[in-house]
Amino acid sequence: MNKKSVKDVEVRGKRVLVRVDFNVPLNEQGQITNDKRIQASLPTILYLIREGARVILASHLGRPKGQVNPKYSLAPVAKHLSEQLAQAVSFAKDCIGDTAMEAVSTLQDGEVLLLENVRFHAEEEKNDPTFAKELAGLAELFVNDAFGTAHRAHASTEGVTHYIPAVCGLLMQKEVDFMGNALERPERPFVAIIGGAKVSDKIGVIENLLEKVDALIIGGGMANTFLKAQGFNVGKSFLEEEKVELAKQLIEKAKAKGIELELPIDVVAALAFQADATHRTVKVSEIGEDEMALDIGSASAEKFEARISTAKTVIWNGPMGVFEMEAFAKGTERVAQAVATCGGITIVGGGDSVAAVEKMKAADRMTHISTGGGASLEFLEGKVLPGVAALQDKE
Ligand code: 3PG
Repeated sequence: MNKKSVKDVEVRGKRVLVRVDFNVPLNEQGQITNDKRIQASLPTILYLIREGARVILASHLGRPKGQVNPKYSLAPVAKHLSEQLAQAVSFAKDCIGDTAMEAVSTLQDGEVLLLENVRFHAEEEKNDPTFAKELAGLAELFVNDAFGTAHRAHASTEGVTHYIPAVCGLLMQKEVDFMGNALERPERPFVAIIGGAKVSDKIGVIENLLEKVDALIIGGGMANTFLKAQGFNVGKSFLEEEKVELAKQLIEKAKAKGIELELPIDVVAALAFQADATHRTVKVSEIGEDEMALDIGSASAEKFEARISTAKTVIWNGPMGVFEMEAFAKGTERVAQAVATCGGITIVGGGDSVAAVEKMKAADRMTHISTGGGASLEFLEGKVLPGVAALQDKE
């Protein structure tokens, strides 16, 4: 990427404010149930420790709406991080003011401090300049490594860059490079797989990808709207009636551009949205009035597998069915296997498809798994991410 990275600047002995995305899931007991985002931030943190920087970490967790709420405290993350780093991580109970200042003043070279949730202050999401200046005042350099939050123009992602030099971290660089290269310089054939419930969530992504890919596979609940646009009856399946016309236009656009648009040819149709619902695999022309499509069928999976197997670049966003229910997970499983074994560059983005890949234990066979949900969607839409745009360009 054309932005300066943490490796392009002097960090030794400096107070470095690092924006990470530690927005991790916690259970009722406040235990971290998935630490992938913490793991993904380690290369930058370890680099800074090794180089003798004084590391000040800032993050949000959840959506506390500008209120202090112990449920969203980052204290458990400080403990977990300290175990991962095998060194102490101190914790400041506020991210600004005397508490933060004092914690920063005692930091030595190579030490790490985590600040409390930046979203305990309403000013964070408002990108308030005074708040941003206070945060920036803690450090001499800003490193943004929070790809997952790069689509938000908040004080700790964008605002701070107005006050101190700002560069990207190693995770941010990796995310932008993998996805950027795939979109701009893909090895072909370039195949995108888009799934998930709603067409409306992915319109921008589909439109942008239709400018770039050789083939586009569509599955999941959103495929129903395309099937309807093709003239099929989808029974009680989830359908966005108001998007049928748009789906028709997208089908036409793909045809005009010579892009293979792969839609399901059969589905697993159930009588209810339930794990134990009666279900059968039917051709898309045979979905009953009282049935709902909850997964792609085996013939569709085979067709998709064949397409994926020849790909040199694959981007996958969104599951093929209701994979959380065993009876409707097969389509997503088969696509995950096909992507994992295709031999090309494989990139998985978006919360649900990442969860599916992790559930299917295929994560370590993918080239890159994005830590971004909303951020990776916006990136695939071709949008400029404010948290990235604000960083210094390479000279
Ligand atoms: C995410 O989980 O997608 C990021 O951490 C951003 O969180 P947000 O949607 O609450 O801004």
